[in-house]
This record gives sequence, structure tokens and C-alpha cells, in this order.
Amino acid sequence: MTPTQTPNIFAPVSTPALEIRDLSFIVLAITAAIFVIVGGFTIYTLIRFGRRPTNPQIEPAQVYGSTQIELAWTVVPFLIVVVLFLVTARYVYGIERRAKPPDALEITVVGNQWWWEIRYPKLGIVTANEIHVPVSDAANPALTFITVESVDVAHSFWVPQLAGKMDAIPNKTNRVWIEPRRVGTYVGQCAEYCGLQHALMLLVVAVHPKDEFRAWVAAQRTAPAEQAAARAGRELFSSLACINCHSVRGTPGNGVFGPDLTHLMSRSTLGAGAVRNTPENLRAWVKDPGAFKAGVLMPAMKLDEAQLDQLLAYLVTLR
Ligand code: CUA
Repeated sequence: MTPTQTPNIFAPVSTPALEIRDLSFIVLAITAAIFVIVGGFTIYTLIRFGRRPTNPQIEPAQVYGSTQIELAWTVVPFLIVVVLFLVTARYVYGIERRAKPPDALEITVVGNQWWWEIRYPKLGIVTANEIHVPVSDAANPALTFITVESVDVAHSFWVPQLAGKMDAIPNKTNRVWIEPRRVGTYVGQCAEYCGLQHALMLLVVAVHPKDEFRAWVAAQRTAPAEQAAARAGRELFSSLACINCHSVRGTPGNGVFGPDLTHLMSRSTLGAGAVRNTPENLRAWVKDPGAFKAGVLMPAMKLDEAQLDQLLAYLVTLR
């Protein structure tokens, strides 16, 4: 995965984003034509009528109004705006009214300060910041319907290559759908200023071939294997305040304020894109999350080095 890749609205790979690009090209073409005409007349006038020796004794012809010209520059722009409105409405309606097929994948994305919770309610999977979906092709269409929510402030879910922006508003449920046609990794960002770490709400969408996606689902549904060497760290984890905020399936940890850690090590970054998820960074993160992400709601637990080692030995088993 390359979470540093730049999102590009002109390289769509999924239906709503493809339609949005088409619409933007139509609008750009119309406005470019207007620009060329207006700019052309302006330049022509400047060259044709600019800078001539004038005789202050002779007053130029005074022109007061022309019904024809005024009608033209009122009616023509009005018609252009009507056309833009109708074209846009048609696209918006086409995207919004798309019905959910019974076999569509359902995901709930919940904006948090400052990370995304990703839930697959029908599959029993909970993860964070990384969405995994199957690729769609003509023979086997695979649509993913995403319910967008927020637990605190207004965020905005936006993966430019897949779909348009969708606000994540507390106490409101919004919906967006995607049908990615190309396997790959696509990045997005929170697109609504939501506080100190608005810039660190990375979204990664991994589009898999169908069998690879099934394998990912199976892995996520399996609880990580318990390892004897990690027992001390596991008990330490369960005895600390970690479990008030974090869940690890099969342990007393069932907190919901922070990301689910059941498969923590399957994710590519820590702190929603703050740093790469490596054991060294994870240790530094647990020691002092604020060093990577100022204002993060996870506190430094004031653990000593031996405790950090134990905890890390456990956390790296959460694959
Ligand atoms: Cu969440 Cu900006």
C-alpha cells in the first residue's frame, strides 16, 4: 500500500467518480467557450480601439443602451445556466437514485476526531481507516454501499477516484456508493475542517480481486491466534485503561471510543496516516501518541520501558 499517493479527481476508477468527471468536463467545455468568446472580444477591442491619438475638442459618440444587446446578454447567460442546471440535476439524480442490489456489500464509515471507524455490519468486521472492497466488472458487478456517520463533529468522506464528497454529520445518516472497476489502492481524506488533526484523517480504500477480498474477510473474521510469548502483554493490556477505549475480540477489551485493535497489524498506518505501522513506530506511539499526532485523544499511558516491551510483544500478534 502506498498511503502517500495523491488523490486525483481526473483519474476516476469507479462509477460516481467517472460520472462526476464527465460532468465536470461538460461544465468546463461550456465555460471555456464563454471564456474564449469574452476574452477574444476583449483582446480584439483592446487592439482595434486602444491607444489612438485623441482630440480633446471632439467628444466621442455617446451610446445610451441598446434593447437588443441587453436582451441578448440577459437571455443567453440565463439559457446557459438552465442548461448547466439541467445537466447537473440529471447526473445527481442518476447517482442518488441508484437502488441497492441485494448482494451489495454494506459498509458503515463513522467519522471520529480524528480517524475513521469502518464497520461491515453483515460480516461482523470492525476496523479503522482502511476500507477493503471487491472489484466490479461487467460480468460480476460488485457495488459497495457506504453509510456515512459521525460521532462528534462534521467530517467529510472523500475518496476522489471513487465518488464525490459525502458529509459525515452527527445524528444524520448519509449514503454513498462505489463500484470500483480497477484493482488498486486509492486514498482519500477528510474534506471538512473538523479540528486540530483534520489533516490526519487518511482514508485508504483497497480494491481487491474477488477471491482476494474473500480471503481478507475470512482473515478479519478470525480472532488472532493467542501466542504464549504474548501472554504477559495481553494481561497487561487488559489491566490498563487501554480497554476502556479499544476493543480486541476475544478479550475483556470492548471499548468503542478508539479504533478496534483486533487486527491492528493488518493496517498500514497508525493514527490515520500519522506514521507507518511498524513495531518501532507502534512502540513510540503507545509511549506518547502526541509525539506523532498533536491533540490526539489517546493519552500517553506513562508506561515504563519493560511494560512497553511487554505490550508491544502482544500488540504485534494482532495480525
Ligand atoms: Cu475529519 Cu476533517
